[in-house]
Amino acid sequence: MQKEKLLYEGKAKKLYQTNEKEVLWVEYKDDATAFNGEKKEVLHGKGKLNNEISSLLFQKLADTGIRSHFVKKLSATEQLVKQTTIVPLEVVVRNIVAGSLHKRTGIEEGTELNQAIVEFYYKDDDLGDPLINNDHIRILQAAEPEQVHNMREQALAVNKSLKKHFDDCGLLLVDFKLEFGTTADGELLLADEISPDTCRLWDKETREKFDKDLFRFGLGSLQDGYTEILKRLGGAVHG
Ligand code: C5P
Repeated sequence: MQKEKLLYEGKAKKLYQTNEKEVLWVEYKDDATAFNGEKKEVLHGKGKLNNEISSLLFQKLADTGIRSHFVKKLSATEQLVKQTTIVPLEVVVRNIVAGSLHKRTGIEEGTELNQAIVEFYYKDDDLGDPLINNDHIRILQAAEPEQVHNMREQALAVNKSLKKHFDDCGLLLVDFKLEFGTTADGELLLADEISPDTCRLWDKETREKFDKDLFRFGLGSLQDGYTEILKRLGGAVHG
């Protein structure tokens, strides 16, 4: 397999074409960004940690029958994925109140929800990724109603699987963001990454934060938090 031309560079990853049809080469970067790119830093080792954690989680999901674009891990910072066209929606699942749900509703951070909730955000940097409803999705033609239903069901299935997995590792899955893409033959597939950049993960007992909120709010070392998550997931921690 050969890495070919750069197709896209995002905030946290680079995507390259390969010599194999519909397979892309992903490189996780050390760049950390928050608040729609307003806060930026290079954090050495972040790319490795996220590649490792994301690979482990996609593999875990595959083991429980949840398909994704993940093909295989290639190196410390690289993985192969199936090519998809990304649906311009961010799908957020929440088990515990935090972040923007706390801001929007005033419900106290840390309040456990008796049922997980699913939200859709429109992926548009200029608009600041606004929260949207099904009618907005329809007028924006961001996805078909059947795809919206499918994304919701898949997101809840991911939540059920990962919540249990993290719980076994002494972690609370507070909330997370997923992205989906469509393959050349029209399949809606879980895509992007699942990492502490895209999940809130707290210690089950102390509620210490190990995720990107460490960087967002200057609460401590992001690398230390992500390393703790990787250790608890049973992954290999590199120097
Ligand atoms: O900020 P908010 O509370 O809406 O974030 C909910 C979850 O989605 C958090 O786990 C956050 O890390 C993730 N998220 C993300 N990318 C975004 C927005 C939120 O990964 N652009």
